Amino acid sequence: MASTLIDKGPQCGPLSLSGRGWGVVRHCGAMTLAIVAAMHEELRALLPALESARVVHHAGREFHCGRLDGHEVVLVLSRIGKVAAATTAALLVERFDARRVLFTGVAGGLGPAVRVGDVVVARELLQHDMDASPLFPRYEVPLTGRARFATDAPMSDALVAAAREGVSRVLELAGPLHRLADFGIGAPGVHEGLVVSGDRFVATAGEGEILRANLPDAVAVEMEGAAVAQVCHDCDVPFAVLRSISDRADDSAHVDFTRFVEAVASRYTATIVRLWLRRWPAPGASPDADEAL
Ligand code: ADE
Repeated sequence: MASTLIDKGPQCGPLSLSGRGWGVVRHCGAMTLAIVAAMHEELRALLPALESARVVHHAGREFHCGRLDGHEVVLVLSRIGKVAAATTAALLVERFDARRVLFTGVAGGLGPAVRVGDVVVARELLQHDMDASPLFPRYEVPLTGRARFATDAPMSDALVAAAREGVSRVLELAGPLHRLADFGIGAPGVHEGLVVSGDRFVATAGEGEILRANLPDAVAVEMEGAAVAQVCHDCDVPFAVLRSISDRADDSAHVDFTRFVEAVASRYTATIVRLWLRRWPAPGASPDADEAL
């Protein structure tokens, strides 16, 4: 691992004795909130609003530190898949002193009422490809005694409120949000519940149906959230997960996904994240600046 902004010295403990140049990256500020985006497009939509921005290059990632809507934040791309997301989350907690983690991205809809353009706020996350049976029950993460990891209730409640506000204003907000209409999306819904993650892009109707049959309460499928949940659980860091629905996890998932990400997702979840930031208490936050969204 290499980083361009590191403190080395006695405070680093065993890491500084490794002789491999490892150290502790200076954290971004007091009570840092980490915002992890699954896609470049979402990150790019948030970065212009970041004040006093500085970039820390570490472990092949760019961590953007600064202030956003009154919060000390670190913004970073998760990269794709559970290992990449878990690594990113662990670095945020250990090296950047992240005290809360908010993950944003897109997902495939699983619940019958979950349509393209809807928004999902996770209440629980589960790894749908975790199976150490018969040693442990299917889906259970060995040695944790659990398959489902709950998100932080106050963060998620505020996210639901922000998502409702965001989707109700979807047509009036600036930018490419109006392109939702191209997808036949008039009034997007907001859903809460179980989000499942695995190292597979679910792109066939058959695979989507198997997930629906095995995990009937799952509202959406993606590739990172449950990994972040496990890391945050281990580190006792509150977290929340926001996903917009890009496809229905079926035979046309890859086509819908690409169109949605290119046309809509860049501004969609980023807008909701900023509405959430304004609801979430932070010293010095400016409560109302809708024009900046
Ligand atoms: N993210 C968005 N759509 C997805 C799908 N169909 N499967 C897995 N991850 C996704």
